[in-house]
Amino acid sequence: MLKKKLTDISNKDLVIAPSLLAADFANLKSEIEQTKRAGVEVLHIDVMDGHFVPNISMGVPVVQSIRSITDQIFDVHLMISHPLDYVSSFVKAGADHITFHIESDDNVEQVIKEIKKHSVTVGMSLKPGTDPELILPYLGQIDMILVMTVEPGFGGQSFMANMMPKISFLREKISKIGSNLHIEVDGGIDQGTVGTVVKAGANVIVAGTSVFKYCDGVEKAVLALKSNANYDSDICSNRSYSL
Ligand code: DX5
Ligand code: ZN
Repeated sequence: MLKKKLTDISNKDLVIAPSLLAADFANLKSEIEQTKRAGVEVLHIDVMDGHFVPNISMGVPVVQSIRSITDQIFDVHLMISHPLDYVSSFVKAGADHITFHIESDDNVEQVIKEIKKHSVTVGMSLKPGTDPELILPYLGQIDMILVMTVEPGFGGQSFMANMMPKISFLREKISKIGSNLHIEVDGGIDQGTVGTVVKAGANVIVAGTSVFKYCDGVEKAVLALKSNANYDSDICSNRSYSL
């Protein structure tokens, strides 16, 4: 059977993408297996270079290791200054999708071309302060927009509700052109805030702390995110740590 891709999923479907940054790295295999039991199809992998963002996380060897234990879609979020230099290594290690930042130092067109050359799907991300108009010229060339709802760099931060107009603006543009572009949101999303981002127009929900540090475990966390996607209620708040 052919491996599932992001483009096989409708942008009207809700996708929960747990962020491994909040997982217990000493037990990564069991953490990933729990996401599988929860029916998770997409895993979000945060890559930080200590330059584009003031933190360093995981890289190519981690992607390569976990590739052998799961067929889930690897959504690699590059928070690095020079994505162009690393696309090839991440794809070889097993990335299925690569998101880079419009604010990175490389030429946007070139990065898109490089990602496509490797036959994986392309995402472009906007930091909270970046004008969404800047991404409009590229909508026809990419598969997903990632709207950051925190300043990138750390897990466990507070959700920025003032990003909702940006999501709605982009969802409206996508509806007008009638494409299957996904809108992903990342940062501070939990069982209380998921309803707000879905209402604004996001369909791919990155969740780190609220999945891996959930009071009742990973499976129930994912279930609660899904069932709360149409409501606004905080059923289990435990966001008191940071990575
Ligand atoms: C932040 C990362 C996020 C982070 C989200 O720079 O891009 O993916 O892991 O973590 P939570 O869900 O804990 O805010
Ligand atoms: Zn991320």
